[in-house]
Amino acid sequence: MKAIAVHPGKARSIHLREVPEPSLDDVPDGRGVLVEVLRVGVDGTDKEINEAQYGAAPPGDDYLVIGHENFGRVVAVGPDVPDTIRPGGYVVASVRRPGTSIYGKIGLQDFTTDDVYYERGINLRHGYLTERYVEDSDFVFPLPPNLAEVGVLLEPTTVAEKGVNHAFEIQRRLRVWRPRRAAVLGSGTIGLLMALALRLRGLEITCFSLPRAPFPNSDLIEELGGAYVSSQDTTLAEVSEQRGPFDVIMDATGFSPLVWEAAEVLGKNGVLVLSSITGGDRRVEIASDRINQSFVLGNKVMVGTVNASPTDFESGVTDLIRAEALFPGWLGKLLTTPIHGLESYREMIEALERGDGIKVFVEVAGNGA
Ligand code: BGC
Ligand code: ZN
Repeated sequence: MKAIAVHPGKARSIHLREVPEPSLDDVPDGRGVLVEVLRVGVDGTDKEINEAQYGAAPPGDDYLVIGHENFGRVVAVGPDVPDTIRPGGYVVASVRRPGTSIYGKIGLQDFTTDDVYYERGINLRHGYLTERYVEDSDFVFPLPPNLAEVGVLLEPTTVAEKGVNHAFEIQRRLRVWRPRRAAVLGSGTIGLLMALALRLRGLEITCFSLPRAPFPNSDLIEELGGAYVSSQDTTLAEVSEQRGPFDVIMDATGFSPLVWEAAEVLGKNGVLVLSSITGGDRRVEIASDRINQSFVLGNKVMVGTVNASPTDFESGVTDLIRAEALFPGWLGKLLTTPIHGLESYREMIEALERGDGIKVFVEVAGNGA
């Protein structure tokens, strides 16, 4: 069968190749789920892998099948797969796999303390930009049929969900935390999905991002009832004066200096959530006394978040369902750039590099929706 792969460490090595068919027996103890891939989204991580800045091949192979934002239909299941996962049903598989740390042993490999981590389509494990895959049912999450059109957004949604879920988890320490105002920094897919997750939890949303409105992403923020502000016209301090103080600030800009501005304006008892994987080594001068003092006197928290746990997949499914009910058509508008078939991998990477549109995704097979 066909797959889109790269030679990790070799820039611009994206290619189409033949790879072995997976089989239910590849997974031990009857827990195998064989899945036909329907759609796969791509993001900055895939772009960086093709630019050889990130990613590694599985041991023994000189190529890595890329693609981690998957959506598919179950073809067959082993005898010990829970009956929530049945042939014909839609599923999304998670990305990270356990290593040696205690967190992997309890299903929380997103919290691994190992230096080496295993991620399908990213690091040391093949991904989903192929025709079929097999996976242990522990890492496979069922979706209802009415998410056929937007289910490919589940994996990026789980990244937003983990950040939001942990903000609430951390704030349980306050006994009473009634967050009202949230700022989301960045208006790419993750920023938009963070805004959605916060809105669904009843918060007022302000999105602060580089481009000037109106453009599709700012329209999407407004459709959620949020406000959009361009960083070309206003500073974050001014935004906080006008629409804050913010109880929650979530960053998904990829521009790390902004984090220190966010730390400066975060409200009392607030939580600042960082999610950008910034590969560079940028340095900036920060208002260190002011930030430090305001964190101390304001009992503030700054927390990093990566990947997602089973709980985040479950709340992600719930939020996709709620989003379809409360903001009909909103999620579908994120799916701006379909690419038809694995053979169109060049078109896929070009669309990703152009960076216009919101989500580039490959229609690997018809989804029957
Ligand atoms: C993926 C995450 C992953 C992270 C780090 C992101 O693009 O969506 O699942 O943990 O990259 O590799
Ligand atoms: Zn990703």
